[in-house]
Amino acid sequence: MNKDQLERVARAMVAKGKGLLAADESSGTIKKRFDAIGIPSTVETRRDYREFMFRTRPAMDQHISGVILYDETIRQIGADGTPLVKLIETAGSLPGIKVDLGAKPMPGFPGETITEGLDGLANRLKDYYALGARFAKWRAVIDIGEGIPTHAAIKANAHALARYAALCQEANIVPIVEPEVLMDGGHTQARCYDVTEAVLKCVFSELYDQRIFLEGMILKPNMVVPGKKAPQQAQVAEVAAATVRLLKNCVPSAVPGIAFLSGGQSEVEATAHLDAINQLGPLPWAVTFSYGRALQEAAQKAWAGKPENIPAAQAAFAHRARMNSLAALGEWSEPLEAAA
Ligand code: 13P
Repeated sequence: MNKDQLERVARAMVAKGKGLLAADESSGTIKKRFDAIGIPSTVETRRDYREFMFRTRPAMDQHISGVILYDETIRQIGADGTPLVKLIETAGSLPGIKVDLGAKPMPGFPGETITEGLDGLANRLKDYYALGARFAKWRAVIDIGEGIPTHAAIKANAHALARYAALCQEANIVPIVEPEVLMDGGHTQARCYDVTEAVLKCVFSELYDQRIFLEGMILKPNMVVPGKKAPQQAQVAEVAAATVRLLKNCVPSAVPGIAFLSGGQSEVEATAHLDAINQLGPLPWAVTFSYGRALQEAAQKAWAGKPENIPAAQAAFAHRARMNSLAALGEWSEPLEAAA
């Protein structure tokens, strides 16, 4: 394990005013996103779509510290013969890779899942390193409902996250540890707080047991928000205050950075929340974005699968990247959205 390299990469991933682009949708998930805008999901459309994002300059250079890729994408070659990994590197950004194999039903625990992918992971990480990956992602999924989550599901998922993180660090790849508490359902913000607290405490206990080098990892959590169907939604300031209080209670300051998932928040909500969180600083860690949907929605709509729309789609992507970059500095404000 090269601790210097791990720490250097982790810090670069959360460099001031920069964040991560989660472009690691599995083939099933990207098909859902393409279906919504009437685009067929083929190897070529997926390639063209990712390629125009990675070619968005100077937004990539200025705002995106790293890109999380899917197995197909890390091996893909652009239309002009340039590997997509090379496009990311040329923009001064780091290529990363999603390595989990998805959340599968957990036997004996109806409604809960366990994320798979540990078997053979050491060898896959070696291959990914050779392909250019310097960090990885593993997502555990925790749903809130009647009687769930159970302690057993939280513990099994936290253990898998820690085993994944250990394998990554052994391969000199920075692990993004992502325990996502879903915002589906009608639960309150207080319930989200309690569940996320239990999850993060368990995750850090497992990371400690597995001797994870905290300076060489990034945490990717959800924010503390009520369920989407909750009758009482929370103000931006309430989300920020609860999220910061939670993280201060759970995340050691040796962790260099926290990069949030957007989880189904709208693009502007995700930006406003990140900004409000950073305005509560100084915080013990760099706090930024690792958004999928909240960085891509407008760009996908503007593109609609048509080559002639690529400049407009790139402008939409650049705008979202800039807004989130400002939010990572606590310098965003609503009027900047309209000024675009
Ligand atoms: P969203 O920001 O769309 O939640 O995606 C981030 C991610 O990587 C989820 O695993």
